[in-house]
Amino acid sequence: MATTFLNYIDGKWVPPKSEKSFQRENPATGDIIGSFPDSGRQDVADAVAAAGAAWDAWRATPAPRRAEILFRAGEIMLARKEELARDVTIEMGKVLKEGRGDVQEAIDMIYYAAGEGRRMFGHTTPAELPNKFAMAVRQPHGIVAAITPWNFPLAIPCWKLMPALVTGNTVVFKPSPYSPLSANNLLRILEEAGLPPGVANLAFGEDQTGAALVDDPRVAMVSFTGSLEVGREIAAYCGRNGKRVHLEMGGKNAIIVLDDADIDLAIEGAVWSAFGTSGQRCTAASRMIVQERLVGAFTDRLVARAVALRLGNGLDATTEMGPVVNRPQLEKVQRYMEIGRDEGATVACGGARATSDGLDKGYFFQPTVFADVRPRMRIAQEEIFGPVTDIIACSDLEEAVSINNDVPYGLVTSIYTSDLSRAFQAMERITTGIVYLNAGTIGAEVHLPFGGTRGTGNGQREAGQAALDSYTEWKTVYIDYSGRLQKAQIDR
Ligand code: UN1
Repeated sequence: MATTFLNYIDGKWVPPKSEKSFQRENPATGDIIGSFPDSGRQDVADAVAAAGAAWDAWRATPAPRRAEILFRAGEIMLARKEELARDVTIEMGKVLKEGRGDVQEAIDMIYYAAGEGRRMFGHTTPAELPNKFAMAVRQPHGIVAAITPWNFPLAIPCWKLMPALVTGNTVVFKPSPYSPLSANNLLRILEEAGLPPGVANLAFGEDQTGAALVDDPRVAMVSFTGSLEVGREIAAYCGRNGKRVHLEMGGKNAIIVLDDADIDLAIEGAVWSAFGTSGQRCTAASRMIVQERLVGAFTDRLVARAVALRLGNGLDATTEMGPVVNRPQLEKVQRYMEIGRDEGATVACGGARATSDGLDKGYFFQPTVFADVRPRMRIAQEEIFGPVTDIIACSDLEEAVSINNDVPYGLVTSIYTSDLSRAFQAMERITTGIVYLNAGTIGAEVHLPFGGTRGTGNGQREAGQAALDSYTEWKTVYIDYSGRLQKAQIDR
C-alpha cells in the first residue's frame, strides 16, 4: 500500500473532500512514492478561507517575530538536509548532490528572507511643506497563491513562501503533482517551527486545483513558476480580475563562446549547464552560440563529455545524470528529436531514450547535442526542458548577441571571452534578466533578483530585494503636525 499523504489546511492534516487522489512514482525506478490528494474546489476554498482567517493576526505580528519562525524552519531544514535531499532525488530524479543543492538553496532563501524581518526598508523623504513628515512603508497583499513546478521541489517553494510570509501575507501553496513529497516536508517543517494555523496551507492537486486557486476571489496575488502557456493564461485571468501576479516561465538560454575564450572552462560550463538536472532548469543552456573558428573542436569536445556522462538513479553516488521527470516530458524530448532532424539539424550525440542496464525502468534520455543548428529552427527557439543542447555558429560578437536575444524567452546568457571590452559590450547588449561572464548559465544566488525578460516573466522578479516588491505594495504616509490646513503644490 502506498503511503497516503494529506493536505495541510488551517494547521491540520486533512484528507481531501474531493475524495480524489493521484500517485507519484520515482522517475528513476517507477516505484510508487505515495498517494496524494487531488484537491477539488471545496478543498481549495477551505485552504483560502483558512489563509483569510489567519491574515489579520499574522500581519499584526511584528515582522522580526514572523522571521524568528522562519529562522527556526531554516535550522530544522539544515539539520535534516540529507533526508530532504534524498526525497528531492526520489521524487524528481536529480542526482543527490543537486538534491542537496536544492535544499541548500531553500535554506539560503529562508535565512535571507528571515533577515528581512529586521530590514524590509521603506523610505522617508522630506515633505515639501513645513511640519509635515513623509514616508513609504511596505504592506502585504493578503492571501498569496503559490503555484510551483517540480524541478526545484524545495527551493522554488521557499523562493515564494518565505518572502511572502515574512512580509505578512498568508499563503495557499499548490505544488506540482510531480514533486509533492518535498512540499509535504516543507509544511511539516513550518508547522514544527511554530507557524500559526492557517498562515501557510498546502493543497495538493493537478491543474484544476491550481485553476480553482487562481479563480478564488479572495486570493490577492498569484505567484507562478511553470510553462509559458499556463503562465499567460494566469496573467490574462489575473489582469481581468485585478489580481497581482508574478510569473516565471522558462528560458531558451545560451552560452556564447568567443574565439578568445578559455575553451576548457567553456566546456566545463557547457556540460554542467546543458546536462545538470538533466537540462530541466529554467536556467539550463540549450544553445551554444560558438564563433565559427571554434565550432568543430567545441562540438567534438562537448560530445565526448556528453557521451561519457553516467546515467542512473540519482541516489547512486556514481550517477552523473538522472532521468527526466515523467513520461510526458520524455515524449516531449523525443518529439524534439524528430523536429530537429526534420529541420535539418544533425544529432551529434544522443538523440534517443536510454534503456541499457536497467535504465528502461525509468525515464532516461541520452545527453543530446544537435549540431548544424540555425537560429530560427524550432529546436533553437522553443524550450525543450531536457538534456538537449544546440550548437549554433556565429561570425562575431555582434551576431552572437543578436542570435542570443532573438528568442521568445529572456532568462540567462553566459559569455566566455578573455577580452574585457568584448565582455562589457556583451553584458550591455544582452537582453536577458541574468548574465554570466566566464561561468555557465545555472546557479543563481538567492540574494540577487532572479527572473527574465520577454516570455520568461512579467517584469516581476523573484529572490533578493526584488522579491519584496513582488510580495508587497507601497503605502505612502503623510503626517501633518502643523495643526493647520496645508495645501501641497499651492502653499509655497
Ligand atoms: C529554475 O530552474 O527555475 O540558477 C530555477 C539556477 C538555480 C535556480 C533555477 N539557482 O539554476
